[in-house]
Amino acid sequence: KQVTAFQNSLLDWYDQHKKPLPWRKTTEPYQIWISEIMSQQTQVETVIPYFERFMAKYPTLRDLATADDAELLKLWEGLGYYSRARNLKLAAQEIVTNFDGIFPEHLSDIQSLKGIGPYTAAAIASIAYGQPEPAIDGNLMRVTSRVFEMTDDISQAKSRKAFDEVLRKLISSERPGDFNQALMDLGSTVCKPKIALCAACPLAEFCQSRAKGTQLNFPIKTKK
Ligand code: ADE
Repeated sequence: KQVTAFQNSLLDWYDQHKKPLPWRKTTEPYQIWISEIMSQQTQVETVIPYFERFMAKYPTLRDLATADDAELLKLWEGLGYYSRARNLKLAAQEIVTNFDGIFPEHLSDIQSLKGIGPYTAAAIASIAYGQPEPAIDGNLMRVTSRVFEMTDDISQAKSRKAFDEVLRKLISSERPGDFNQALMDLGSTVCKPKIALCAACPLAEFCQSRAKGTQLNFPIKTKK
């Protein structure tokens, strides 16, 4: 019941405030995948024109699998971390070879692909396939740690499990992709690293750190 109220507040906020991103007009796994790889280490606003150019040049996974390396890297110029682009092509080839060119649906198959870790696999599974998998990145950990005053150290890989357990109980089974993306947008526009704009937050009434005024004490991060 409290869970339903949490989901409704978050999803209603998302319906009114979500960022207008081109990959939010589709649930095609190929497009969701490209958008998620591009959005690693790069702000989504910066990614938009790259995503549009990429889809114009490589409209399908098979186009990417046979891409010219120099042209692919040229298109990636400015995004940085060129291994991401190389891994995209390698993974596209794996999908053609091992999955008959159809983007896999099972989380373990998705995660077996070159360049796809737990975050990206969960993002694709939830957004493209509607599976209730929490896509745990820095934004989700910051928001969740503040809402529940979680003291798990986000510098430590083992803390991921604590966030996964909490979020798994909360994620909407009806709209898991929107649930994840709502938390991403909330983390980047409202519940920000150095300031928490709680007056604008749909989760304020559920937020334990907000009640105590301890928002900026979270997340706990010991290194870097
Ligand atoms: N950051 C990474 N992926 C994102 C998405 N789908 N929406 C918003 N921010 C993101």
